[in-house]
Amino acid sequence: MVLLGTFITFEGPDGSGKSTQARLLAQRLASLGVDVVLTREPGGTPLGERVRRVLLDRDGVRHAARADALLFAAARAQHVDDVIVPALRRGAVVICDRYADSTVAYQGYGSGVPLERLRELGAFATRGLQPRRTILLDLPVDAGLARRSAGEPEGLTRFETADVFDAAFHERVRMGFLELAKVEPARWLVVDADRPADVIAREIFVSIADLLELTHEAM
Ligand code: TMP
Repeated sequence: MVLLGTFITFEGPDGSGKSTQARLLAQRLASLGVDVVLTREPGGTPLGERVRRVLLDRDGVRHAARADALLFAAARAQHVDDVIVPALRRGAVVICDRYADSTVAYQGYGSGVPLERLRELGAFATRGLQPRRTILLDLPVDAGLARRSAGEPEGLTRFETADVFDAAFHERVRMGFLELAKVEPARWLVVDADRPADVIAREIFVSIADLLELTHEAM
């Protein structure tokens, strides 16, 4: 399968500002005439958005962590087939807000599902499709949770409110992301998210411009 495009993902703990940064990068690239697809997980397809509600709604339903992992993977499989691969085939830059690394960080490091099983599940769901660059917006757990609880309470997900997902859980998730980044430094860019949004956006853009070999004038 020939994929001409470039696949970029954003990862990070809740409240790290990754959705804002994914949007800013997409807007900047689009303004330069780049064919950009901005999408998110869980979601990105009609099935994925339905699964998103099952996964994130605060409806009091008990979920085993393995069940969560399988649901995230199901949404991902549909997303890869229907959105990501077709866009990459035509040569687009695909920017995805969360991807398979989130399952390893949240369900693996956070909830204790064996990492090896999650890697196998990830490879199955994605047909082995890996991002060329993953931007990790890293932030102390307290700062992220404070940012989120300062926002609209309706926007909070199950992972930010249920008792089992406490500060220690989010600390494990953060450490998990940092460990993943350490193992694969050529793919990951770790960004300090505790700074103004425009400063962070600039750092991310420079890295992506380099990856895409954009000319100097574009910058
Ligand atoms: P977000 O869209 O605001 O990032 O919320 C998605 C939530 O779901 C967030 O708390 C992280 C969590 N999540 C997982 O636990 N595993 C996954 O594979 C993904 C994609 C998200």
